[in-house]
Order: sequence, then structure tokens, then C-alpha cells
Amino acid sequence: MEIKITKTTAPAVKPEASVLGFGKYFTDHMFIMEYNPEKGWHDARIVPFGKIELHPACTALHYGSEVFEGLKAYRKSDGSVQLFRPMENIRRMNRSAERLCLPQIPEDTAMQILTEFIKFEQDWVPSAPGTSLYIRPFMFGNDETLGVHSVKHATFMIITSPVGSYYKEGINPVKIMIEAEDVRAVRGGTGEAKCGGNYAASNRAGEKAEEKGYSQVLWLDGVERKYIEEVGAMNVMFKIDGEVVTPQLTGSILPGITRKSCLEILRAEGYKVSERRISIDEIGKALADGKLEEAWGTGTAAVVSPIGELCYKDVKYIINDGKIGEVTSHLYDTLTGIQWGKIEDKYGWTVPIK
Ligand code: PLP
Ligand code: COI
Repeated sequence: MEIKITKTTAPAVKPEASVLGFGKYFTDHMFIMEYNPEKGWHDARIVPFGKIELHPACTALHYGSEVFEGLKAYRKSDGSVQLFRPMENIRRMNRSAERLCLPQIPEDTAMQILTEFIKFEQDWVPSAPGTSLYIRPFMFGNDETLGVHSVKHATFMIITSPVGSYYKEGINPVKIMIEAEDVRAVRGGTGEAKCGGNYAASNRAGEKAEEKGYSQVLWLDGVERKYIEEVGAMNVMFKIDGEVVTPQLTGSILPGITRKSCLEILRAEGYKVSERRISIDEIGKALADGKLEEAWGTGTAAVVSPIGELCYKDVKYIINDGKIGEVTSHLYDTLTGIQWGKIEDKYGWTVPIK
């Protein structure tokens, strides 16, 4: 696919690493293309970053037809840039798009667009320890009519943001509130798709948690409200009595790429790992018995994030004295080591930008 390029005439000053945080700054350019049934995907272009115009009846604004992805570009110590498992994000985006009746982007086209755009914007990949360029591809329905139906017109864009750590705590353990009222998703719904509506519906519980000093919400299953699902922006893992356990993919949680990578690393290294249902009662009992050894979240933005405290119906569960555990640390070091090219990528997960 040919990509037309219009360069900015007013490049921004790049922010210092110390102020980055997550998703506050954007690079000089963005990628955009449109879809309709006659032309398929067309008008692929890189343009200066800026506001876009939408018809007031745009489907995404009324009926939430939107999907997105999140991945990162990392700068290695030799100055080169690499992506981490980008094909996994491309495939997941197409699965999300299928669920929301948005068009597919052929995998090789999506990969070409992604790598060309990151190559073009690569000066923006920061180099300070722990920083990266967060890549946010997204697609939305763009019909200019109020009828409820699957969309005929769509827009696909990529925006990029130099980032540091997602949580203000950095690699220090976060506190997570287990939500007892609202539910995030049910099987057959959109929980396993990465679509904007899932996040909109989770904000109310998120606000409540934040007011009480918790970073995010841990969701329970929507039917029995008993089984652990995932956290707002990450999957969750526990070490119980020597075994790493994580909720199985039942259709209502996001199949995280960091989750998959952590499971692959742990299995390759001979850890005992299981994907299964985990009830909140099991977590409480394991804690009471002194068998809940570690808990952590996994996600592109959150990386591997230790969980020091869970709170459920005002009962506080302090995990590993609120300190980062051994397996959490090991996973963090291994994963970030591969991502920043500090250790050998024996899994073949990284894709250099050339
Ligand atoms: N779960 C939710 C709800 C998320 O938003 C994310 C972040 O993308 C994850 C899990 C982790 O997924 P991944 O590791 O692919 O970033
Ligand atoms: C990511 O980790 O890429 C995410 O999409 C999480 C996000 C909602 C900030």
C-alpha cells in the first residue's frame, strides 16, 4: 500500500524523560486511512498530528463502534528501535474488529503501515531507562447516518506517544480494589475485544476505587461475581503455594499479549503454571493460610506490575508485605530485558525497525 507523506512544518520540542508519564505527549505525525466497500482501505497517509473532523452523526460517536490496540517501540542501547510481537496486536485488532463489525486490515498491510510509520517517527522513541514509544492504532465506524447497523465506512489511525511508567508507583506495588457491584463483561459480550466501550463502562468503578486510594479495579465475572477476571488495564497473575495461576481465557477477558508472553517464559523455564478459574474465596483462603505468595498484573502499558494490596468489600488483603516478589521481579527483568534488547530474544518476539 502506498503511503503519502506530509511533513509537519512545526516540529514539537521533545519532552524530558522525567515528565513523560503515560499518554500525555504526542509525536509530530499520525497515520490515517479510510475504508468503504467500493475502494476498500484507501488514502493511506502520514500527516502532521492534529485534530480531525467528524460528521456529527459519525457511528463511533453514537454507537461506540471503535476498537484499538496498544504496543510499544523500544530503543536499544545501540540506538536502534524494535517492536515487541506486533503481529499479535494486528491479529487481535482484526479479531476485535470482527466482533464490532468493523472491516479487517490484511495482516501484511497492517504490518507494513505500522513499521513504515514507526520508522518515519523513530526519532521520537525515547532512550532513558524505562521509557518507550507507546503506539495506539485504532479504528472506528464513520458512517454519516443514525441508523443502527454494521458500518460501511471506517477510519483507521495510528497515534504515538513517548511514555514512561503507567502507574505513578513505577515498579513499586500498586493497590487494587476488587469491584463488587459493576461488572465489566460477560461471555458472548465484548470483554475479549479491545473496544472503547469496555473502558467507558468501567470508569464508574475506577473513580470509586481512586477516591479510596486504589490505582485500578479488579473485575469479577459478570454472572456469579465470584471468579477473578482482570484488572482495568492488565491481566492478573497470582503465585499460590509455589504455582503461578491466572484466570483462563473464557471470552470475557482480554487475551493479553504480555500475559501470553509471561506464561510462555514461565513454562519455558519450568515453572508450574495453570490457567483456570480462581475464586475470590480461594484468594482469601490462600492469604489466610499464608500461601498467597505474590500477585502482579501484566500489560503493555503496565508491563509487569506488582500488586501489594487487594481490597474486597472493605477487607484489605496485603500481599507479600506489600513488597515486589521474586517471580514478579524475574518476569519484569526478563520481559523488559527482551523488549529493550538487553538480553537475548530466544523466542523471536522482537521486530527491528530498519
Ligand atoms: N486487559 C485489559 C482490559 C487491557 O486494557 C490490557 C491492555 O492492553 C490488558 C489486559 C493487557 O493486554 P496486553 O498485554 O496485550 O497489553
Ligand atoms: C495497553 O496496555 O496497551 C492498554 O491499552 C491499556 C490502556 C487502556 C491504557
